[in-house]
This record gives sequence, C-alpha cells and structure tokens, in this order.
Amino acid sequence: MNVKTFGVIGAGQMGGGIAQVAATSGLSVILHDISQEFVDRGLVAISANLQRGVDKGKMSLEEKKAILSRITPSTNLLSMQAADFVVEAASENEEIKFKIFAQLDEICPGRAILASNTSSIPIGRIASRTRRPEKVIGMHFMNPVPVMKLVEVIRALPTTDETYDITIQLVEKMGKTPAEARDYPGFLANRILLPMINEAIFCLYQGVGNRDAIDSVMKLGMNHPMGPLALADLIGLDTCLAILNTLHQGLGDPKYRPCPLLRQYVEAGWLGRKTGRGFYSY
Ligand code: CAA
Repeated sequence: MNVKTFGVIGAGQMGGGIAQVAATSGLSVILHDISQEFVDRGLVAISANLQRGVDKGKMSLEEKKAILSRITPSTNLLSMQAADFVVEAASENEEIKFKIFAQLDEICPGRAILASNTSSIPIGRIASRTRRPEKVIGMHFMNPVPVMKLVEVIRALPTTDETYDITIQLVEKMGKTPAEARDYPGFLANRILLPMINEAIFCLYQGVGNRDAIDSVMKLGMNHPMGPLALADLIGLDTCLAILNTLHQGLGDPKYRPCPLLRQYVEAGWLGRKTGRGFYSY
C-alpha cells in the first residue's frame, strides 16, 4: 500500500510534531483534535517551528506555505474516512485510547493501518479493541519530534509483516530511523531511559548531589545533550511517573519503583516545562 493520506489524532506537542514531519515529507495530513482551539494551537506551533527553519535559511517561505497547505485541520473524527494510515497521539490514558481506536475502526477504510504513539500502553491491548488487530502497531516518536531521528516501531502479537513493512517504509519516508521493539512494558526506549531518570531523582531525594551536579554529571561526563532532570521536565513529570508505574506493575520488579520525590512533584502539580515548574523553573 502506498500511503498518501496520513491522519494524526491529537494536535498537542507530539501530534503536532508528527503532523509537521509528515507534511514536510510530502504526505497529505489530516490533523484532528477534539476542539478548534486545540487544533489551532497545534497549527500555530507548527507554523512557528517551520518559521524558525525559514529564518535560519533552511527552507524558503514557499516551502513553509506548501507544507502548511498539506495539513487539513479537523474536529470531526469522520474526516479519517480519507486516511490510509492513522497515528493516534492523544493523552496517555487507556480509556481515551481504547475509545479512539474503537471509533477509528468503525470510520477508517478497511485497508487503513491504525498506529499508536503510546509510550507505555501495550499495543496488543489497544489492538484488541478493534476488529483489525493485525493492522494495529506502535509508532513511538521521540520529543521534540522534528529533531529526534528515532521512531520505535512496536509489533504486538497479531501485527502482520505487511503492517510492519508499511510502517517501516513510512518512518523512512518521514526521514526517521526505525528501531523494532516487542510489546513489553516500556518497549525499548522508555525501559532504558526511565530507570536512569528515576535514579537521578533518587540521587536528588537522598541528597547525593544537587540538581545542577546531577545534570552536569550526565551532560559533561557522558555527553548527553541535556541532564536527566532537565529531560524529565521536557518529557513531563506526570508522564515519567506513568511510565515508571507501567514498568513497575508490568514487569513486577522493584527496581522500577518510582521515587517518592517524583510522586510529590506530580501531586503538587509541578509537571515540568508544561506547567512552568518542575526540577527547573520556566
Ligand atoms: N521543536 C522543534 N525543533 C526544536 C525544538 C522543538 N521543541 N527544540 C529544539 N529544536 C531545534 C532547534 O530549532 C534547533 O534546530 P537547528 O539545529 O535547525 O538550528 C535544534 O533543535 C537544536 O536546538 P537548540 O540549539 O535550541 O538546543 P539544543 O542544541 O540544546 O537542543 C534538544 C535541544 C534537541 C531538545 C536537545 O537538548 C536534546 O536532544 N535533548 C534530549 C531530548 C531527548 O532525549 N528526547 C527524548 C525524550 S524521551 C521521549 O520522547 C520518549 C517518551 O516516551 C518519554
């Protein structure tokens, strides 16, 4: 199947980034969210991102306009009738995702592949909410989507080779590199990343070092582009906690228990960049 029309559910940070990258690669994109306000906010962010490229001389104003013209905004899920491939990037909430997949299954043409950008919900569980589990797959982009080269592609038990191959071709068309992961809690990226972030938070909690020392160790000592506490703020502390809970419950190993300090921050509403306060202030 040659994917031409690409649906994106959710116009937030991840969905907007995915829509931008897809439209830049030449795909015709339908960007959906539940309210006009959310869709508009997503489009403003995409436009601002592309404008940075124009200002830096990396693309022309005409190219920017052409990319934006390939994105059709939508607040009605029925618009997905036209999609060959849909990626869902809604809130990281099981019930919301189950509902969206059941609706997409009703609305989308039989040929369409339904992907989820979930960072931790099992793909097999999402697939079982549809009558096309063989056409359901995980397509996990990294934040910030326009910059990060990786897409983790997660195969659930029923996912067919055909679905997998089409997804890999699409990832490559979008200029990204795929990494295949099996459908176990946290897949690969977060199974490796989150224990590091959690350990950094434990170091802060136990007074082994202060925030700046912890982040400097990983930035200057290991050449990470940002320290683990700054990265946790970028990901969102609520998302970090949700992923750690998934690893802890799903794998049953105490090494994944979330640090009590992380819980406290989330309970205080200090969620990182998105709320203006996390381990840093913004
Ligand atoms: N959207 C689009 N572009 C962005 C951006 C954003 N939010 N943030 C930065 N950029 C672009 C900048 O425009 C700049 O582009 P050019 O090279 O074309 O000029 C480039 O990225 C570098 O940006 P900066 O110079 O401003 O800053 P930097 O060099 O410090 O890079 C960073 C910023 C890319 C975020 C870098 O610090 C980094 O790579 N950090 C680690 C990010 C990471 O680990 N992400 C994965 C998170 S885990 C995840 O997403 C999975 C999950 O499920 C939780």
